[in-house]
Amino acid sequence: MNLLHIDASILGPNSTSRVLSAAVVARLSDANPGLHVTHLDLAADPIPHLSLAEFGAMMGGESPLALEQLLAADIVVIGAPVYNFSVPSQLKAWVDRIAVAGKTFRYTEKGPEGLLGGKRVILAVARGGLYGPGAPAAPHEHGESYLRSIFGFLGVTDVEVIVAEGLRVSDAMRDEAMIAAHARIAELGTVTPVHAAA
Ligand SMILES: Cc1cc2nc3c(=O)[nH]c(=O)nc-3n(C[C@H](O)[C@H](O)[C@H](O)COP(=O)(O)O)c2cc1C
Repeated sequence: MNLLHIDASILGPNSTSRVLSAAVVARLSDANPGLHVTHLDLAADPIPHLSLAEFGAMMGGESPLALEQLLAADIVVIGAPVYNFSVPSQLKAWVDRIAVAGKTFRYTEKGPEGLLGGKRVILAVARGGLYGPGAPAAPHEHGESYLRSIFGFLGVTDVEVIVAEGLRVSDAMRDEAMIAAHARIAELGTVTPVHAAA
């Protein structure tokens, strides 16, 4: 079983999403001995903005490394910080390599169809403010919702999301958010990963 662990935070040792994504991976590794983990650090090893030349090569059938790693993964864990209401551009550059017609989705007469249905995706989201249901800033949440849209489009119907938010509101709110997030992560290990149907 392969797990692809992706981090995108620029904050290095001060990153919250890295703490949470690492905790998710540690939990799943405990629960699934033999899990093979590939770690992708998109801040340390950034993927450039997609260019016409690379897009053309992808349309011609070439597979970027990011796409091969994703296709080989049974479980994908993404540390997803919120920067300026969305995902870091490092993570967007990764998405631009993995949303590929014919590989991760296909066009049918009934519309686009995702091809990643057998994968388990877990997002570890860290955000400074409050964007949950009913929060005044909720309409400005374009990070978690963006990733849910992308993976939904690619056929992953059941994206699991661990959120720690309000991290910059107060120390008390930060502590509370981290305790709640770690409690959610502790429950993850009891869930059996989903396998591809085909
Ligand atoms: C460049 C930058 C932009 C940010 N923009 C937002 C934002 O739009 N909304 C928000 O709630 N928090 C924002 N924050 C706070 C981060 O979401 C928060 O620090 C979170 O911990 C980021 O995850 P990380 O620690 O893994 O990098 C921003 C932080 C940085 C560094």
